[in-house]
Amino acid sequence: MGTIVRGSGFVVGEHTVKNEQLARVMDTSDDWIRERSGIEQRYYVKDGTTTSDLGVRAARLAMEQAGVGAGDIDYVVFATMTPDYQFPGCGVLLQSKLGLGNIPTLDIRQQCTGFIYGLQVADALLRAGAAKRLLLVGAEVHSGYMPWKDHGIVFGTSDATVTDEERAFNTKYRDRTVLFGDAGGAVVLERTDEDRGLLAVKLHSDGSYAEKLYVPSGFAWRPYVTEAMVREGRHIPEMDGRQVFRMAVTKMPEIVHEILAANGLSIDDVSLLIAHQANLRINESVQKTLGLPDSRVYNNIQKYGNTTAATIPIAYDECRRAGRVKPGDLVCFVGLGAGFHWGAALLRE
Ligand code: UT7
Repeated sequence: MGTIVRGSGFVVGEHTVKNEQLARVMDTSDDWIRERSGIEQRYYVKDGTTTSDLGVRAARLAMEQAGVGAGDIDYVVFATMTPDYQFPGCGVLLQSKLGLGNIPTLDIRQQCTGFIYGLQVADALLRAGAAKRLLLVGAEVHSGYMPWKDHGIVFGTSDATVTDEERAFNTKYRDRTVLFGDAGGAVVLERTDEDRGLLAVKLHSDGSYAEKLYVPSGFAWRPYVTEAMVREGRHIPEMDGRQVFRMAVTKMPEIVHEILAANGLSIDDVSLLIAHQANLRINESVQKTLGLPDSRVYNNIQKYGNTTAATIPIAYDECRRAGRVKPGDLVCFVGLGAGFHWGAALLRE
């Protein structure tokens, strides 16, 4: 008896953005981005596409693969740090756009660990009988955070250029803006009588690191947004990249061992490790610490950049569609991100 993934799917923003294109608006280079992060390109949405739109598109693919219709879904859990509105959350927008009826919807905000937290929430709801078939979505539109005025310069659809002053402002944020992309992933979850599915989820958080990766604006200010705040860039994420890197390479292997030991398993039992895609160098370090061969690890950050709550469902969907997960395989998900939150999950195929 376990919670299983009946269907999965993902979508990306409409515009491909290669590293070189970012050099149009800030001082950066393809070499730097590849060398430090492994990223070669990412996708940004076209104007008007929102996080809930990406969630809806991904959910449709997951539902199609699961062979279920709108009337078959009775709960939505939506993980995002870039909701369409300050409120309400994206869950209810997705419910309406997909015509799911008046089912309950829940938004969770655990950033890069959102999907793993979402698995635990979903599993608990299914076990408790509060839901029979649930949509778990992780989607982000990060391009809204990008500090430049005109995305058309990056896309090559605008004749505008950046002034020296604008380039200097954009360059201030280059350590983080080059990392992120827009995408959405979704899974349809339900219970099965078979002896497979989600075995365990292990989660941690440490709020003393909250300001190591955060957006320094919100409802702590009155009024909560002023022109001065925008000029100061307080709507753009602040990140202590080295601190996040150090925590990720330490805590991710640690929690993988923790969840395996708690379930009487070892690293040799893991068929496939799917880690949050924040930086290829982080994941290479985690792989090395865990002593896993390339054949048992999957990374795709090269193509998509960091898509926060969407990275894990995207990677998992690619592995499912490519036949990289087979019946009986043990898949381990792991991630760490803003909060800090970190977690791992074990899924028996
Ligand atoms: O999902 C969780 C989200 N975040 C993360 O996981 C981030 C984790 N951290 C990282 O991935 C890395 O720390 C970064 C990729 C963000 C940065 O790499 P780093 O090797 O830690 O570089 P750094 O920040 O120490 O910067 C080294 C140099 C600096 O120049 P100076 O001071 O040595 O002259 C930066 O100004 O690289 C410069 N730099 C850049 N140069 C070109 C920073 N960003 C860029 C850039 N292009 N995009």
